[in-house]
Amino acid sequence: MAEAAAPFRFDVIDVHTHIGCLPGHVHYGYTAAELVGRLDAEGVRFALTSSGSSTTVGQRYGTREILVAAERFPDRIGPLVWINPYDPEWQADAEEAADRGALGIKLHPKLDTYRVDFDSLADVFAFAERRQLPICAHVEAGDYSAELYAPLVERYPAVHLVLYHFNFGRPIAGILMARRYPRVYVETCFAPREAIEAGLGLLGPEKIVFGTDAPIYTLLGEAAQTSHGVRRTLLPPRRGRGVTFSGRWPAVLPTWSLVAPVYDLQLPLERAALAAATSLLDLRDGERLLDVGTGTGALVRALAKPALGRPPWRTVGIDSSAAMLRCMPSWSAGWARVAADGRALPFADSSFEAAAASYLLHTLKTADRHAVLVEVKRVLRPAGRLVVVSVAEPGSAAGRGLVHLVHRVTRGRPGVGAGLQPWDPRQELEQHGFAVRSVRRVGRGYPSICVLADRI
Ligand SMILES: C[S@@+](CC[C@H](N)C(=O)[O-])C[C@H]1O[C@@H](n2cnc3c(N)ncnc32)[C@H](O)[C@@H]1O
Repeated sequence: MAEAAAPFRFDVIDVHTHIGCLPGHVHYGYTAAELVGRLDAEGVRFALTSSGSSTTVGQRYGTREILVAAERFPDRIGPLVWINPYDPEWQADAEEAADRGALGIKLHPKLDTYRVDFDSLADVFAFAERRQLPICAHVEAGDYSAELYAPLVERYPAVHLVLYHFNFGRPIAGILMARRYPRVYVETCFAPREAIEAGLGLLGPEKIVFGTDAPIYTLLGEAAQTSHGVRRTLLPPRRGRGVTFSGRWPAVLPTWSLVAPVYDLQLPLERAALAAATSLLDLRDGERLLDVGTGTGALVRALAKPALGRPPWRTVGIDSSAAMLRCMPSWSAGWARVAADGRALPFADSSFEAAAASYLLHTLKTADRHAVLVEVKRVLRPAGRLVVVSVAEPGSAAGRGLVHLVHRVTRGRPGVGAGLQPWDPRQELEQHGFAVRSVRRVGRGYPSICVLADRI
């Protein structure tokens, strides 16, 4: 589980964040206020930010969006103008952005579907040199790889170039570019911990800049991954991680990130309870749903079925494990997934009409559970609905025996080990200002209790 907002003893600057309509989530616009809420929650002082709307809606629209955002939060958001060199308006757009205080240029050849070569990008580099703006580029193994920028860097050596993600999928290419050229840097988001360590050794810290790709990933999500040493999907899993042995029983303490690749195998056991929970929620057109501890999106996927994949409501799934989020199949347009901690939600007060927490709360320590309930109440509108799904006391002797065995093995520790720990949410919901409206018990699959409560 992610740690609470870190009390950093230095100013954190995140060089890779976004607002706007993000690819795959275009019906959900991530606002500047939401980003600043996220920065506050995580102790980030300043963020270089571009607008995803530049690629999903149009470059001009995105440029205006990011400039307005930076004018509203000048101390927190540093605008990057997203340039698509094949957009006929890019030059006018970029000049205006530079005049209005843009701090750099964002390039995303993959999303904007152009080749990384001299012909495509020479004019942009010339512009960057003339206006003294750094370029931040999404780089990734294959057609968008870091070394493809070498002819441009050699022709325009004054331009500072930040290679986002080190060079996703092949970080060594990013490291070699940053080693070869004095004004080329690598950025940490998505980079495996091993790559960052290698980069530190080969380049030194001044060539490595910190970024999260927020809201896709956030500081806590990245920190949780890095500190757990969980390898990214692009590297083969390392054996034995997260498994410790102590005492007579092997105390298997996997993290959610570790079980992520196999998590969906047990989803059939959740199915009946999730169907009950979604029917209790009874979402209506235009309503916004927050799914806390969404994992691989089981509850939201259950919701999507009857709606034939394009529901009229808007959904945000948050989870502290970026690895769990990565194992989620693609979602409907208009749905967002955000790596965030349920104890410090990156959303404004009263942002949602409905919320869900399925198979989450009983796995948490009491204090964490309380923190999550306080946050859920805050972001729900008055009279907003919360549905909680939790494991219930099994009806059969065999079921009770299994729960007892799991409890002995895990010694009741929170996290994955508490996944089968029965817990009735009603009392704590009432304590946190929710009025329980309806309860359903489900015997198929995991014995479960689904509780619908209204925010008072
Ligand atoms: C048992 S899984 C449930 C996933 C999903 N809701 C489901 O029904 O399948 C619990 C999830 O909660 C996430 N989680 C644990 N603590 C969290 C926290 N403080 N904030 C956000 N997510 C958290 C874990 O990463 C994990 O994905």
